[in-house]
Amino acid sequence: MSRHEHQHDATAGESTEMFEPSSWEERYTGDQNVWSGKPNPQLVAEASKLEPGTALDVGCGEGGDVIWLAQQGWTVTGADFSANGLARAAKHAEEAGVADRTDWWQVDARSFAADGRSYDLVTTHFLHPPDGGMVDVARRLAQAVAPGGHLLVVGHAPSGVFTHLTKGHRDAMFLAEDLLPALPADFEPVVVEQRPRTMVRDGVTVDVYDATLLARRDSTPRDPR
Ligand SMILES: C[S@@+](CC[C@H](N)C(=O)[O-])C[C@H]1O[C@@H](n2cnc3c(N)ncnc32)[C@H](O)[C@@H]1O
Repeated sequence: MSRHEHQHDATAGESTEMFEPSSWEERYTGDQNVWSGKPNPQLVAEASKLEPGTALDVGCGEGGDVIWLAQQGWTVTGADFSANGLARAAKHAEEAGVADRTDWWQVDARSFAADGRSYDLVTTHFLHPPDGGMVDVARRLAQAVAPGGHLLVVGHAPSGVFTHLTKGHRDAMFLAEDLLPALPADFEPVVVEQRPRTMVRDGVTVDVYDATLLARRDSTPRDPR
């Protein structure tokens, strides 16, 4: 996530409400930004190697990754289930001078359907639906990848660093390899690993791992037989 020092905290309780739009709408209310606005490092590492085209960022929050991609020449749709988050992201894109390369889509990733839309890059960072739901989300997002395009899914890998979080939050974490069953047959995994990153929490630097899955879709559709 763009603001590494602010994680969900244990006081959020064990209810499933923390995974619902209302909880995020509340977080995106008020004067302060929740995230730093900096792009996520695994996005920078991987998208920098790609030719800019069209991109979809699901769970885009306040738009840090969307804006960075737009600044690299991508035409980007930022998607999130929070209207407040999307409003902030649009404002930040306007301020960054990339409004003409961005648009916004309010959608719940858990029921995402590509509906004929396709993108050269579909990316998502730190979405973390509950109860192993990221496999289904990744499967849905893969449908929106254009032939020859890429799917990039990044999230927190479980580690001792997160023992202060609720069980619900810890159970929503995943390893990159957990997501492999989500890939349709015409996708080839390119990166399947936990990448080390440091983040600052309460003024202390801690080592974490980003579960990172990058997969490329074949450029020619396969014969379904
Ligand atoms: C931890 S934040 C990460 C934001 C941004 N990707 C980043 O890395 O800074 C998770 C974001 O995903 C959104 N989100 C969570 N669950 C979602 C879902 N089921 N569908 C769409 N967006 C969701 C939240 O509103 C929030 O903006």
